[in-house]
Amino acid sequence: MFGFLEQGSSNAANVDLIFAILIGISSFLIVMIAGLIIFFAIKYRAGSNANRDNPPISDWRLEATWVFVPLVVGVGVFMGAATVFLNDTRIPDDALEIYVVAKQWMWKTQHPEGRQEINELHIPVNQPIKLTMISQDVIHSFWVPDFRVKQDVLPGRYTRLWFEPIKTGEYPLRCAEYCGVDHSLMVGTIYVMEQAEYQAWLSRGTQSDNMEGNSTASGAELFTSLGCSDCHRAGSDNQAVGPALQGLFGSTVELQSGAEIIADESYIRESILDPNAKIVSGFSSIMPTFEGQVDEEEIITLINYIKSLG
Ligand code: CUA
Repeated sequence: MFGFLEQGSSNAANVDLIFAILIGISSFLIVMIAGLIIFFAIKYRAGSNANRDNPPISDWRLEATWVFVPLVVGVGVFMGAATVFLNDTRIPDDALEIYVVAKQWMWKTQHPEGRQEINELHIPVNQPIKLTMISQDVIHSFWVPDFRVKQDVLPGRYTRLWFEPIKTGEYPLRCAEYCGVDHSLMVGTIYVMEQAEYQAWLSRGTQSDNMEGNSTASGAELFTSLGCSDCHRAGSDNQAVGPALQGLFGSTVELQSGAEIIADESYIRESILDPNAKIVSGFSSIMPTFEGQVDEEEIITLINYIKSLG
């Protein structure tokens, strides 16, 4: 219905429907109230010979109508909007996981296979996409108008967003949070491709054409060069100083405190930056912090590497 915007995702039409209903209800009320104001202003203007008796009216049917009609409409709009909102927050299990790092003033994306892009994101059509996002500096906001999705990207914390593109094509990506002088230039493009085309694109290389020629270390290289591998050894090495990382991602970890935690992105990131926050049961707090030694992109590269050990 909004000719200037594509309905590019599976949820876009629902968002538009809610928007259209709210615009419709608002328009109806504006026209009715403004119309009555004008009508009464003319009818009861000074000097007109309208009837001004104003006898008391009491009719329960009239009162019941103006209580129940708005109630039903209000609850209906709420339920519709809540359904759309819940659909927006419930991430499908089969979603393709992509990491996004925002920084002044660019978007960096990383595919599960390690391929990275700047200000671009190539994704397959008709496939739910799950974004795990974090900022290297200030608050940004990942906004794809054609998909009707927008999510703040925060420093120090992962936020998530999902959508399912339903049409191939190019869609503008915007930053929707004022983040400094070049905020308005923090733009990118989302390329939605056919599944086969996407696979071909993925296999064409590990770096995007516009990666500025900088070589990003692979997860395994980073794991070794930072010294992680000294303590977190491969295989079932009982002499290892640190917990083994095989199969860690997504598993339940028992902590020294007795609590249990699911090893997700946030847990792994915290364990890299603040290793003593959650000590794994049976190990001691000897790991040094890597705060300041790794940036958010490298942390994501490490998380992807640990995931790949699964
Ligand atoms: Cu990033 Cu505005």
